[in-house]
Amino acid sequence: MSEFHLQEEALGKAYDSKQMRRLLKYLRPYKSLVVISASALFFGSGTQIALIALVQIALDDYVMVGDLGGLTMIAGIYLAITIARFGAEYLQFYTTAKMGQETLHDIRMEVFAKLQRMDSKYFDKNPVGRLVTRVTNDVNTLNELFSSGVINVIGDIIMLVAFVSMMLYYDWLLSLAVFAVLPFLVVTTLIFRNKVRTVFRDLRVTIAQINAFVNEHLSGIAVVKLFAREKAIKEKFDTLNRRAMDQNLKQVFYYAVFFPVVELIGAVSLAALIVVGGMQITAGLLTFGELTAFILLVERFFRPIRDLSEKYNIMQASMASSERIFQLLDAKLDRAGLTPTVTIPRSAASSASPSTTPALSLKGEVEFKNVSFAYNEPEYVLKNISFKANPGENIAIVGATGAGKTSLISLLFRFYDFQSGQILIDNRDIREYDIFSLRSRIALAPQDVQIFSGNLAYNIRLGDNSISDEQVLAAAKDVGLDQALGDDFDLGMEIQERGATLSTGQKQLLSFARALAFDPDILTLDEATSSVDTATERLIQNALERIMKGRTSFVVAHRLSTIEKADRILVFHQGELRETGTHEELLAIGGVYQKLYRLQYQPRNIERSARSAVV
Ligand SMILES: Nc1ncnc2c1ncn2[C@@H]1O[C@H](COP(=O)(O)OP(=O)(O)O)[C@@H](O)[C@H]1O
Ligand SMILES: [Mg+2]
Repeated sequence: MSEFHLQEEALGKAYDSKQMRRLLKYLRPYKSLVVISASALFFGSGTQIALIALVQIALDDYVMVGDLGGLTMIAGIYLAITIARFGAEYLQFYTTAKMGQETLHDIRMEVFAKLQRMDSKYFDKNPVGRLVTRVTNDVNTLNELFSSGVINVIGDIIMLVAFVSMMLYYDWLLSLAVFAVLPFLVVTTLIFRNKVRTVFRDLRVTIAQINAFVNEHLSGIAVVKLFAREKAIKEKFDTLNRRAMDQNLKQVFYYAVFFPVVELIGAVSLAALIVVGGMQITAGLLTFGELTAFILLVERFFRPIRDLSEKYNIMQASMASSERIFQLLDAKLDRAGLTPTVTIPRSAASSASPSTTPALSLKGEVEFKNVSFAYNEPEYVLKNISFKANPGENIAIVGATGAGKTSLISLLFRFYDFQSGQILIDNRDIREYDIFSLRSRIALAPQDVQIFSGNLAYNIRLGDNSISDEQVLAAAKDVGLDQALGDDFDLGMEIQERGATLSTGQKQLLSFARALAFDPDILTLDEATSSVDTATERLIQNALERIMKGRTSFVVAHRLSTIEKADRILVFHQGELRETGTHEELLAIGGVYQKLYRLQYQPRNIERSARSAVV
């Protein structure tokens, strides 16, 4: 875990021109905002300089000569410029923020759309937690870059140049007195930056650990309570929590030292300024107004220098974040031969399956021809599989845990591409079908039912509004979900995240209803192994029979009743298709099936099978 967190926090260059150029591309649609923002920034900076010059003029040309009437006019101009400056700053803040938020929206959309298109293999390799970080944290780091970083760094540098020129214009000797403290300031800032960065990074790692810890131990709260581990776990949490506190305090300490030190350096330079400035005035080389303007300039001069170190950190974090985001965006999709047929327009990136999916209707003939498949070569989990299912045939797939049953089903959906052989549906290679059309005609009720927060209807139609309320209701009733839920049954009933309010059996039925709602041509089911009460068991059996009728179906079966009723049984053993036939035929052979039957399916062993067959 720590390795993963460290990777998340790895920092590199503060500036990478290739990445910066790519980031700036996202600003392209918002060119007018960029222009307004930059103009407002220039204008605002100009007003700052004008105001300082105005103070100098007021002092030297009006106060010193006692021209109070002219002074009123100067005050009027000062007010007018201040108001203009207010407008410019408002405009700059607003347009920068808008530009930043629009850009982030686009990037987040692109990342999410890309994640949706990734294939199963990608999700096998990348923990979901890390991918969530991509969409949230990394994009947020870029937020800081866009809303404060890039443009303002340029602004800061321009301001610095302007201030320095103006200082040199007033008095070069005084300027040198100010610049003399710069090395101290730079050294202090560098030391501070390094210290704070290390602490900051450690703190982020600790916070990530706290998140993971809380997540894990709240998700598993039942286990914690069951084994009465509350105290020990609380203590473990305390260690983490305390570490976060210490790191926070350390960070506060560095800030508490840094800011006063910068102030001190500023005060020293001011003292030098007054001494040297006083001497210059006495010698008639400088006016009061110029010295005052100088002091105002010096104050504004230190501020951007101090800010630059903070912006450096933001830049560095953004470069690391954008590198991770671009890596994800550039990741190749692994589905050989089909991937780019679907391009997702950026604006409509949220709907991964386009509405233009060609309509498809299948007879439901499925043929595997010498199919071999490995998740990671050379460990083949399916070896040279051949069989053919006729339209409407109900096929049971049996085998011990790890035999390859689930893998076989996932090939049909093209969740993975296999290494050799061919899968034909209606005599056509599945790789020739449009993947969305194909998947829209094959249903899957997986072993672990995924429930989404929302109401019952949403969970059945999964946001597909082409499925009407009537169809949803019919599907729910067809699988007996109304009976299973009793009085609670209502399409609008809210279902909690992860289905906490539903029993295992109810979740199974919901998943059947989902599979049935769009009236698929081919149905696949990965039966859950957990046992349910007899009433629910009967509901599930009835539902199974009803939904398999009239369509080709593949059921990874754990129930004897399902197996016995199948037209044909495929027996898998260690990735090979060993036996094929009906229940009676297979028992008569006296092979793998018979052994499996004795161990797992024979009625007197039901109890035992429920416990041992958990996959
Ligand atoms: N996503 C995956 N990545 C790598 N190996 C996997 C993956 N899923 C399953 N396997 C391996 O493939 C083999 C077959 O698994 P599976 O098809 O789930 O078997 P079954 O459903 O019959 O229990 C097992 O050895 C399992 O460890
Ligand atoms: Mg399985």
